[in-house]
Amino acid sequence: MRLLVTGGLGFIGSNFIRHFLARNPAARVVNLDLRTYAGNPANLAGLAAGRRYRWVRGDIADPAAVDRAMKGADAVVHFAAETHVDRSILDASAFLRTNVVGTQVLLDAALRRRVGRFVHVGTDEVYGSVARGLSREGDVLAPNSPYAASKAAADLLVRSYTVTHGLPAVITRASNNFGPYQYPEKALPLMITNWLGGRPFPLYGDGRNVRDWLFVLDHARALELVLRKGRPGEIYNIGGTHSCDNRGLIDAVRCVMGVGPELVRRVPDRPGHDRRYALDCGKLKALGFSHAYDFKAALRLTVEWYRAHEPWWRPLKAAGGYRAYYRAQYARRLGGPRGR
Ligand code: DAU
Repeated sequence: MRLLVTGGLGFIGSNFIRHFLARNPAARVVNLDLRTYAGNPANLAGLAAGRRYRWVRGDIADPAAVDRAMKGADAVVHFAAETHVDRSILDASAFLRTNVVGTQVLLDAALRRRVGRFVHVGTDEVYGSVARGLSREGDVLAPNSPYAASKAAADLLVRSYTVTHGLPAVITRASNNFGPYQYPEKALPLMITNWLGGRPFPLYGDGRNVRDWLFVLDHARALELVLRKGRPGEIYNIGGTHSCDNRGLIDAVRCVMGVGPELVRRVPDRPGHDRRYALDCGKLKALGFSHAYDFKAALRLTVEWYRAHEPWWRPLKAAGGYRAYYRAQYARRLGGPRGR
């Protein structure tokens, strides 16, 4: 199978590419990635460019670049997106351009190139906060952050191309991913790397927001299954194995790392902070999916990975762009420019 992967230098995309090439010796992957702040060639440093793998630097909102990259592809797995909720609150423009316009450009190219399958990688945040029960694929979308709204818009575009043009696309909606190579702005890698540096983790609000944690390699397995067996026009939720609030997550990581309570600092809440996400994954299970990773074991593995890969994350946190973002996001909340 010849696959076009978008955003393959990012956290989930790079884990997916490594998984997919290892499992499919005859497969070839072209990785179209602009290399924005969160796209990092070091995420795929072990993969030499050659017949089986090639990185093409390009913007998914650029029709010519997309059309060239899609030539000869049997299928597309579309990860490329701006994904950080807090950044979308500071400035939503990049989210609209990449997540919405970029998706439309890809969909048009997929139609022209007659690709056999288009997997649109989405998020459970499109359902909004669910006070109780589980979100099902047919539920009304109620996104609350600019990020979630841009992903909901992209989902609806994909849906419209399946209905109107018959594009064989499937949509996935995953819960919170964690694992190696996650950029250290998201809660879990921020917590781990701050603690490895003896700095506090800034906990938003009362810390009672509930998330469902999915190990990134289970996500990669689920995506491969949907790519092969998912029905065109369908949506598949991809949830994790461990639901907890942020205080529970902190306790779990503290237990693995042996960190004391003084390294948690409560800070003002994220505006519009969704209280709870929870997914019904019956459709994915009916396709034959079961998780391969236990939460605690995967969390230990993740902490160990960050411990062993300081040369991967230190430069990211020391870069001017990261420091400027961190200051804009946390300095006032933490009461000064410390806490890097
Ligand atoms: O649910 C899937 C989504 O999960 C993905 O679509 C998003 O791309 C991904 O960023 C993630 O969104 P969240 O907002 O849930 O993830 P984040 O890691 O930013 O935050 C997780 C929880 O931790 C959330 O309740 C906010 C809280 N948090 C986060 C940060 C960065 C803190 O308390 N302090 C922090 O500094």
